[in-house]
Amino acid sequence: MRVLLVDDDPGLRLALSKALSRKGVDVVDLSSGEAALEPLRTGTSTVGPVDVCVLDLRMPGMGGLEVLRRTQARRVPVVVLTGHGTVPDAVEAMRLGAVNFMQKPVDADELLPALQQALREEPPAIATAILGASAPMLSFLERLDRAAQADEPVLLIGEPGTGKELCARRLHDLSGHRKGPFVAFNAASVPDEWLEGELFGQRRGALTGATETREGMMSRAGEGTLFLDDVGELGLEVQGKLLRAIEERRLRPLGADADKLFRARVIAATHHDLKGAVDAGRFRADLYYHLAAIALPVPPLRERGDDVILLARAYLGRSSDRPLVLTPDGEERLRRYRFPGNVRELVNLMKRAALFSERLDVDGELIDELVQQSPFADVARAPFEGEAPRAGERVTLEELEKTHIKRLLSELNNVSEVARIVGIDRRTLQRKMSAWGLRDQGPQ
Ligand SMILES: Nc1ncnc2c1ncn2[C@@H]1O[C@H](COP(=O)(O)OP(=O)(O)OP(=O)(O)O)[C@@H](O)[C@H]1O
Ligand SMILES: [Mg+2]
Repeated sequence: MRVLLVDDDPGLRLALSKALSRKGVDVVDLSSGEAALEPLRTGTSTVGPVDVCVLDLRMPGMGGLEVLRRTQARRVPVVVLTGHGTVPDAVEAMRLGAVNFMQKPVDADELLPALQQALREEPPAIATAILGASAPMLSFLERLDRAAQADEPVLLIGEPGTGKELCARRLHDLSGHRKGPFVAFNAASVPDEWLEGELFGQRRGALTGATETREGMMSRAGEGTLFLDDVGELGLEVQGKLLRAIEERRLRPLGADADKLFRARVIAATHHDLKGAVDAGRFRADLYYHLAAIALPVPPLRERGDDVILLARAYLGRSSDRPLVLTPDGEERLRRYRFPGNVRELVNLMKRAALFSERLDVDGELIDELVQQSPFADVARAPFEGEAPRAGERVTLEELEKTHIKRLLSELNNVSEVARIVGIDRRTLQRKMSAWGLRDQGPQ
């Protein structure tokens, strides 16, 4: 076994290296987080492949948490070393995919079994690391992880950009279906007339234009997970078929003469009130109750307290190799901003901060400037808490709405994306657009 030992304390490195090599373990030691990035990403050190990593959390320069954040697709399992009284950091490290943590002081006799155990673990499923330490997020994550154990459908309800897809992936990774594929299907991105064929599959000749037999998303999901994004966009007819598939665990491709088994777990997401769609007769009540067997509301970012700072730092780090620092007034602006586009908007903001900041400081002024240009900003509302709406000319709400939507459409060129950002469904947006004489030109 070859261990990558990353710690800034030369005394500790020497002592542990000696003790571990006496037990037949090969040690490659590194004195900084920066130096560990490459070996963790590639699984190879200067002297050859490494099997497991011991990573100190507190180091000058890049600390262990930052290393974990920056090595999302690691090849090497990581055991972290924490100092006295840094349990929250250890929790954060586990969330970032570390397989175990040990408190200092630590000796080779304790460490070795932990390393052997780490070697037996599957590589960490870091794609599903969900950052958050606020009370609403912790209780949400607890419910999410518990829901993963069940086999019933889960309905994730949350504003655009709150992380619904990330949560669906985590549900998959922690469930009994993880060995199968995760198949995401966005109902808003497919024209109505293709929905059924895309979902259920179709035999050649089933419809005019169906020149070949195609497998649908539902059978592609196999024994894995079928993620139905924007499920409220499904037409009533397809809803009926979907209900049957979920209830009877069978499906029939278009034009086929026999059923197939449907074994995947169903996770659905919606950013608007599905219950309202049920009341309005646009969504089948029976399907709603099936999908909402476990309904999990995902908290909007503005209700997650200082998670916004945690996320901002994490994404600043991921977006740049320069050591960018969020200043206290930068933090203050972020805390007060409403984030209509939630985490996706924050990620986008930090990417632009990393790109446009000439200095290493990311301060309030820069944040203000970036928010003004944010494709997510809601001009009809005050962007910051406690600020009066911008006065401007005397415009009607409809005019405001039209200008805003037009701007978003020209920026993003994507109707579904714009519908998501402004929080209305795609069909409603398309109705508005045709009423205003706007053509739908972008990709769906
Ligand atoms: N808690 C979190 N920690 C880290 N990254 C997050 C978190 N929540 C969301 N993200 C990131 O924010 C972005 C948006 O997340 P995601 O696509 O899952 O949101 P969504 O709710 O599905 O959005 P939409 O409603 O627009 O489809 C992604 O880049 C995702 O990785
Ligand atoms: Mg999504």
